[in-house]
Amino acid sequence: MKKLAFLLILSSVGLFAGHLLQEQNSAIFGKDLLPNILNYDKEGGLRLGYWFTFIQSKIFVKAFLAITFGVPLAFLVHYLIIGPMIFSHDRKKIYVFNIFHRIIHWLAGVAFIVLVPTGLVMVFASSFGGGEFVRVCKDLHFVATFVFIISVVPMFLMWLKEMLFNMADVKWMMILGGYLSKEKFPIPAYKFNAGQKMWFWASTLGGMLMIVTGLIMYFQDFHVPFLQAWGLSQIDLLRASGILHNVFGLLITALFFTHLYMSIFAIKGAIHSMISGYKEEEELEILHSLFYKKLKEKKVV
Ligand code: HEM
Repeated sequence: MKKLAFLLILSSVGLFAGHLLQEQNSAIFGKDLLPNILNYDKEGGLRLGYWFTFIQSKIFVKAFLAITFGVPLAFLVHYLIIGPMIFSHDRKKIYVFNIFHRIIHWLAGVAFIVLVPTGLVMVFASSFGGGEFVRVCKDLHFVATFVFIISVVPMFLMWLKEMLFNMADVKWMMILGGYLSKEKFPIPAYKFNAGQKMWFWASTLGGMLMIVTGLIMYFQDFHVPFLQAWGLSQIDLLRASGILHNVFGLLITALFFTHLYMSIFAIKGAIHSMISGYKEEEELEILHSLFYKKLKEKKVV
């Protein structure tokens, strides 16, 4: 009995000491508490209190609802009216994505397939009744972030050069890539068209911003000495992260749905290039006519 009481006292003291240590190391509850409060909403601070509460409570849920249902609905209408682009599978197949491209792409794909639905569950947490299900989604969202971290930098570097915009992209945008027409005609684009480039920049640079803002919100309580030097408070940083994460989350979710529609439905068979690395000759001839011209000059086709 004495032993048990001793153990109980020891563990309580241990827990209390741990708690005190944690409080002391905490940027929110520890020694930075006062500077954080003093800096909050001060002249020169971000003064995000009003905007954060307003956007968070009145805009984001509705905007995510509109994207989640509106974007797939718009594509359904496109599919029913214009229909998919179908290219011959009888001509030459051209190798465009090497094994490294494909592995990195798959990692990003797997990460997004977890990140996007679990992120949406968090946005609509109250409709899911909160609780364990939402908590599990939050943890999965955190784990998938690391799969995305592994893929985003190599993806950025491997496609960077080919994703720089050029004059062909202006022409592509003027005809909306030919996606509103049922006719097949040569579209001005090199290896990647303007739409693909926009997705690249949004998913890599936007994705990196999502990682940083997401991690700030996940860890919440850490020391950021430069904040106080800039006259900002910890809560400023959290609120700015919350707003940016949601705004970019909206953009990236809409573009991710678009990317899935294009690769799975709008261009029949496009998904094969993600698996085998090969694209159909006719697809390049029509959708990437300038790239095709170069391949012809090099006698690849
Ligand atoms: C499982 C989900 C995904 C599928 C099914 C998919 C499918 C595809 C396909 C078929 C292509 C080749 C398109 C073409 O050149 O005709 C492609 C390209 C590409 N994918 Fe994905 N992808 C997925 C996820 C992602 C994610 C999460 C990212 C970025 C984080 C990404 C970034 C890109 C980029 C930058 C390209 C090259 C440009 C483009 O075609 O849009 N993909 N994807």
